[in-house]
Amino acid sequence: MIFWELVGARWVQFMAAMILLGTSVFPFYALPSKTAANTARLTQTMRRALAVAALAGAVSAFAWVGASIVNIAGDAGGLVDPETLRQYFFETSFGGAWALRLVLAIVLMAVVLLAREHLFVRNGATALVAVVAGALLVSQAWIGHPASLPGSERWLVTGAYAIHMLGAAVWLGALLPLGLLVARARRDGEGRGIAVFALWRFSRVGMIAVAAILLGGIVNAISRTDSFDALVASTWGQIVILKIAIISTMIVAAALNRFVLMPRLSAQTEITIARLARNVTFEQAAGLLILAAAAVLGVFHPPHF
Ligand code: HEM
Repeated sequence: MIFWELVGARWVQFMAAMILLGTSVFPFYALPSKTAANTARLTQTMRRALAVAALAGAVSAFAWVGASIVNIAGDAGGLVDPETLRQYFFETSFGGAWALRLVLAIVLMAVVLLAREHLFVRNGATALVAVVAGALLVSQAWIGHPASLPGSERWLVTGAYAIHMLGAAVWLGALLPLGLLVARARRDGEGRGIAVFALWRFSRVGMIAVAAILLGGIVNAISRTDSFDALVASTWGQIVILKIAIISTMIVAAALNRFVLMPRLSAQTEITIARLARNVTFEQAAGLLILAAAAVLGVFHPPHF
């Protein structure tokens, strides 16, 4: 089995899709509607980031499916063997979902590259990027463990999986523009008003996103294990526990921002902005780590499979 190639492709795919979704919804709730001049620099940076994420999303989708084909075929020859490809895409339970996902990744890349100069503002093109990136994330359920569950349980767990993915993307994806806004406010004081506005808005949406991540993650974990002992004994369960440990530190950092630092913003602006910037950087690093854990997680079988 080619392991690290598969894990690497999954990690890049998760990061890319989450940046595309979380960054695209950000201007709809976290930026004031009439401040185009003040956010011009951020908008340009985010457009470049979206283009890189869209390219990475398409390349990693092909790399992920390629690694999966090599693992099933037993060698790299499967990638160019028409009969292996026919069987993979037409005779497996996940082949159709993979074909759809490849189309979604290409459509997403095309939309981002063609509409690049219109993105990261409140408009239809930006909303379309968010919707297609969301579809790319949610469709992972049909190539992963949720698809192997029976009947009604499959739909419940797939729904929870969708909530988990969307919540994670809204939270982690927002940390990129939020981090840039706070870093700029810290460096030169410019755009401080917008950074503070975005921080307050994001703190509300972030709480809903965290609730969605926890609800979706817990339902998925419970559906695939018979007992806590079985969870702890399996590599899959140990990775889930690692994810819980990482998210706990992220929640502590987010709560510190929301309930301790942000109320102090008007009285001790400079020192508070500096601390907020440090915490957002910490959350970004923890987010990358938890996505790496998720990239490894899906390669192992859960106890109840
Ligand atoms: C910011 C926090 C989190 C992020 C970004 C995240 C991300 C992800 C991603 C990308 C997947 C897809 C893996 C795949 O389909 O192969 C996933 C699946 C999953 N996550 Fe999370 N997760 C987070 C927190 C949690 C927490 C706190 C739990 C446990 C309560 C959890 C439990 C699970 C489970 C059980 C799955 C299903 C894995 C499978 O299908 O084998 N996650 N998560």
